[in-house]
Amino acid sequence: MNAMADKSLKEATSELGDTSRMLLDQLASCVVLLDENRNILVLNTAAETLLEMSAARIGGNDLAQVIDLDDTLDSLLIQALEKNYPVVKRELDVVLRSGQRYCLDLTVSPINIGKAAHLLLEFTPVDRLNAISEDEHMWQAQASLRQIIRGLAHEVKNPLGGIRGAAQLLARELDAPTLREYTDVIMEEVDRLRALVDRLLGPRERLHPRLVNIHEVLERVKQLIEVESAGTISVARDYDPSLPEFNADPDQLTQVILNISRNAVQALQGEGKITFRTRAKRQYTLGGQRHKLVCAVDIIDPGPGIPEEILPQLFLPMVSSRARGAGLGLSIAQMIANRHGGLIQCQSEPGDTCFTLLIPMEG
Ligand SMILES: Nc1ncnc2c1ncn2[C@@H]1O[C@H](COP(=O)(O)OP(=O)(O)OP(=O)(O)O)[C@@H](O)[C@H]1O
Ligand SMILES: [Mg+2]
Repeated sequence: MNAMADKSLKEATSELGDTSRMLLDQLASCVVLLDENRNILVLNTAAETLLEMSAARIGGNDLAQVIDLDDTLDSLLIQALEKNYPVVKRELDVVLRSGQRYCLDLTVSPINIGKAAHLLLEFTPVDRLNAISEDEHMWQAQASLRQIIRGLAHEVKNPLGGIRGAAQLLARELDAPTLREYTDVIMEEVDRLRALVDRLLGPRERLHPRLVNIHEVLERVKQLIEVESAGTISVARDYDPSLPEFNADPDQLTQVILNISRNAVQALQGEGKITFRTRAKRQYTLGGQRHKLVCAVDIIDPGPGIPEEILPQLFLPMVSSRARGAGLGLSIAQMIANRHGGLIQCQSEPGDTCFTLLIPMEG
């Protein structure tokens, strides 16, 4: 950071005042102020998160050190200055220096501070907006599904109890062992159906929340996966160490990550690398509720991807492409995430499948 930029950064920040700074940080849109040399003077919390850097480290840096300033973005900045008028660009693809890609709706406004022409950038990732409405839809669908399963389970389990009891009584009355084989079949099948209904209902235990460090949960799953695969699967970590602890049920979260990771292992046919990534998302809406801070865990595998035909029903129970799969792993994981007020999303293409667990971190 050069001394001049440092000075103007301090001036710009102190001139903002506490209330303005707070308002700026509450915005869901990203806001960045550049000086005439394209040094970053101010950036709000949303911009900090998206650009994956803290204001303290980024301030005074040239924008080009953070974002790949391709021709389109470069000409937008020039245009706004030359015309002295705000320029708007929808669905602009940008690549951060970290390699992360975003599709942004961007407004560049020229602002004169003193004699120098500054640029105010306001942008919102478009994918995120779409994700929010998808979240809403998915949330509703999951809630309806849970209700149907609960109703169905009740209707199925009651008569099953009766059938099993009757078969037991009948078995006692039967002398011939060959006939008792039939009553055994009835009871075994009843037990199988009961177990299936129980699995459809998801984990019966209530949540036992306590303060959880998500990285401890991930480390536990990493160890399990690596041991299960006898070392042919490795798990790479990309953790945000600043993520605070939050209230959740660690055993049930372990189950979620494990179910998703085991699918990844199966997709990789037992060999390759899975990545666990953690990030904080600020001002994020889940199930119609806005949360200040949401923990996002990505589980990424370079396998062949989810078969297209099952993608729309991926989180429904009994959806599987595996001959011996019950198709329950993801529906159970989604149920647990919902109980925590969270959600699991999935994006998949051949060579890149990413499941994201989003859990609100309240308090
Ligand atoms: N990482 C992944 N890559 C490719 N396909 C996947 C991945 N994760 C899930 N799938 C697909 O989604 C389906 C559903 O997964 P889910 O975990 O719910 O059930 P399952 O693995 O088939 O059975 P179960 O987990 O109950 O033993 C899988 O059968 C598989 O086709
Ligand atoms: Mg599975």
